[in-house]
Amino acid sequence: MSKKISFRKTKAADIKELACIYTQVYEAECYKEKWDYTQSKKLLDFYFKLETFIGFTSLCDGKVCGAFFSYIKPWWDGKHLAEGEIFIDPKFQNKHIGTDLYFTMMKYAYKKGCRVHELVAYKKPASWYKKIGFKETKLIHLFASIKDVISRMEK
Ligand SMILES: CC(C)(COP(=O)(O)OP(=O)(O)OC[C@H]1O[C@@H](n2cnc3c(N)ncnc32)[C@H](O)[C@@H]1OP(=O)(O)O)[C@@H](O)C(=O)NCCC(=O)NCCS
Repeated sequence: MSKKISFRKTKAADIKELACIYTQVYEAECYKEKWDYTQSKKLLDFYFKLETFIGFTSLCDGKVCGAFFSYIKPWWDGKHLAEGEIFIDPKFQNKHIGTDLYFTMMKYAYKKGCRVHELVAYKKPASWYKKIGFKETKLIHLFASIKDVISRMEK
């Protein structure tokens, strides 16, 4: 029998379960990011408390199986949907839930006045984003250790 997939606005009560899923998602991926439950929960709590937070939780037969957390950012050309976090429980991936969840978020963000969603992604999810219509830009993703920058500037 086919499973019933649904989406709803994220509730505070979802966060603990979502933090467990977020941790499992990153354990299953071979990114360099190592998320444990405490850090995952801190991140999701951080998003949840933002004034312009938007979050949707996905459910499979009523059981939480993923989410998309983001927020609206004021920008020079209007409102942007900020990067955010989309993650689906590995057991439920590749069942089109991520795509439908993303579509739910886009329709909502558009209604709220957002016209752009931009983000930085690893190669693998980038190919997923391209599948749903994203294009690469010429921006360069930069990263530094603050300690290293300070010590260089002090020299
Ligand atoms: C990326 C993610 C949200 C996609 O959700 P999902 O429910 O598994 O994806 P869907 O089933 O809707 O995917 C639809 C299509 O994309 C492909 N796809 C799914 N996950 C993919 C991935 N990580 N990379 C590339 N392609 C992917 C599927 O094969 C499918 O292709 P098809 O339409 O040709 O059959 C999910 O894989 C995930 O949680 N990944 C780990 C967290 C992550 O990387 N998040 C993005 C951070 S920037």
